[in-house]
This record gives sequence, structure tokens and C-alpha cells, in this order.
Amino acid sequence: MEGQRVFELHFAPVQGYTDAIYRNAHAAMFRGVEAYYTPFIRVERGNDFRPRDLRECQPSSKTVPRLVPQVLGGTPEELRLSLGVLRDMGHRQADINMGCPFPKIVRRGKGAGLLPSPEQVEALLNVLEEFEDMRCSVKMRLGWEKADECLALLPALNAAPLSAVFMHARLGTQEYKGEPDVEAFGVFGKECAHPLFYNGDLRTVEDIQGMRERFPFIRGVMVGRGLLANPALAEEYESGRALSPEERNSRFRRFHDELFAAYADRLQGDAHLLMKMKTFWEEFMPWTDRKILKRVHKATKLTQYKEAVNAAFAEE
Ligand SMILES: Cc1cc2nc3c(=O)[nH]c(=O)nc-3n(C[C@H](O)[C@H](O)[C@H](O)COP(=O)(O)O)c2cc1C
Repeated sequence: MEGQRVFELHFAPVQGYTDAIYRNAHAAMFRGVEAYYTPFIRVERGNDFRPRDLRECQPSSKTVPRLVPQVLGGTPEELRLSLGVLRDMGHRQADINMGCPFPKIVRRGKGAGLLPSPEQVEALLNVLEEFEDMRCSVKMRLGWEKADECLALLPALNAAPLSAVFMHARLGTQEYKGEPDVEAFGVFGKECAHPLFYNGDLRTVEDIQGMRERFPFIRGVMVGRGLLANPALAEEYESGRALSPEERNSRFRRFHDELFAAYADRLQGDAHLLMKMKTFWEEFMPWTDRKILKRVHKATKLTQYKEAVNAAFAEE
């Protein structure tokens, strides 16, 4: 609509959760997500990639309207290799991860380990000149251990041809816990020359609205765990209407059953399937009665698992 400001909601990459099966099932059943991201792929020893990582990024494995593969930010050479592989697959978009807080990655100056080093970030982003046909974004944090590290990165970020910046408003040292520093996000946002997305702990429609009102300059938000908990969150935001308890129950049940069937098809053996579904329940429907969730997590047989899931949906 003319004059209406664009505001987008993107589904954050969450390793172990948002794989191709999950993304495809989600996009088939829920509206409101503008783009989905793969968990990061990375260059392994011998300049190789894990076949599973590449399979997850295959354009043919996707049925979501817009899939953006993510690469782990590391050395310029690694970025060159990663973007090259994605381009050969037919991708014309990629996101660069500068936020991963895992110690093994950070120690090597990758992921969030890049944040204290403006020179390294600049060298990395210079690689994008070789990929003019690709739209690249950066997903980052405020800093590794200080929230003003991102300010020192602004000249390099602003000079680079980025399509967007996704800012998870935490420090690397916080991992995924503790309060996001929304104030520091605002300071960064005022100086960021690219379309900017807020990320971190948005759980409800009101959280998203609040962020949009507080920071009218943002292009949108990126949501991870809030969508894993309530897969209808983006749809509820977009439509301005919460699902009724009955609708939520039946659609969430269908979503669960679709995932269960797709993972049963893909994974070898009940143990793997149970493990995958238990991971899904780590975030899904956290309002479920704790005793029932405990039964889900303690199930050692599929029959026990199914009984617990029936109880979870009966309770809704
Ligand atoms: C288990 C787990 C795995 C994650 N994997 C990735 C990843 O592969 N790439 C990435 O950029 N962020 C990853 N993240 C971070 C999320 O994308 C997101 O930035 C973070 O969870 C904060 O947003 P949220 O509160 O909306 O979940 C991961 C987070 C968690 C909890």
C-alpha cells in the first residue's frame, strides 16, 4: 500500500531445529515469515564442506518462498570458498554469521570472535566486491565482551555492499542468556546505513510491536525461539489476530504430526527420531504442563512418546 512502511519478519537460523524439514513444514502451514535462514555452513579441513550442510542448502530441498543460506564468518579465503559454492548451487543471497559464541569458533577469530577486530571484518567484507551478483547480509552481536565493539565496526559495515544487518542485541559472552541490551541496539541503529533488523527474545506479538514503535527506523525483526515456541507468531503478528485455542490446538497438532512423519522418513531408527522430536519439544509450546513435558522427554519408546504428545494436545 502506498506510503506504508515495509516491515518484515524473518525466521532466525537455529542449529538443530530449523533444518530443511522444519522450514518446509513451517512455511507450508504458517504465514507471515518473509525469509528463512539455514544454520551456518562452514569450511572444514581440506577446504571442504560437510555433505549434510550442503544438502540442507540445496535450492531443490526448499519449498519456502525465500531461503537464505548462512555461512560462518571466518577468513576472507573461507568466505570466498563458501560464497562460491553457494553461487554454483544457484543461490544469489547469503548471510554471514558474526555472532556464533561457541568457544572453539571464537578462539579461531570466527563468528563472534570477529567482533573485536575491525580490520579483520573489513578484510572479510572486501571479499563481497568479488560477488556483485549476490546479495549478502551480516548477522552479528553488539560485541564479544563490550557493547561498543559494534560501533567500531560501523565504518567497515557501512562501506560494504550489504543488503541487511541482523543485530542480536547481546554480547558473545552472554551466549543466549541474560537481557538483550536494547539501548545499545538503538545507539548502533542510528548509525547503521543498511536495512537493520532487531533480534533477541521477541516472544509475543506485543514484543514485536513494541520494538517497531521504539525503533521506527528498523526494517523488521528476526525471530528464533519465539517462533519455535509459537510457530503461529509471525502469522498472528501479520494478521493482527491471535489464533483461538481450538485453532491453535489443531494446527499445532498437524504441524507436529507433519514433522514427525517427515523425520521418521529421513532418520534411521526410533532412537534418532525420538531424539529429534525431544529437541523440538525443548522449545515448542513451553506453556505445556511441566509434568507432561517431562513425560515427553523421558519417553524411551515411541508408544510412550505418542501418549505424552496426546496428553499435551488434550490439555490445550
Ligand atoms: C541452539 C541454538 C542454535 C543457533 N544456531 C544459530 C546459527 O546456526 N546461526 C545463527 O546465526 N544463529 C544461531 N543461533 C542464534 C539465533 O539465530 C538467534 O540469534 C538467537 O537465538 C536470539 O534470537 P531469539 O531470542 O529470537 O531466539 C542459535 C541459537 C540457539 C539457541
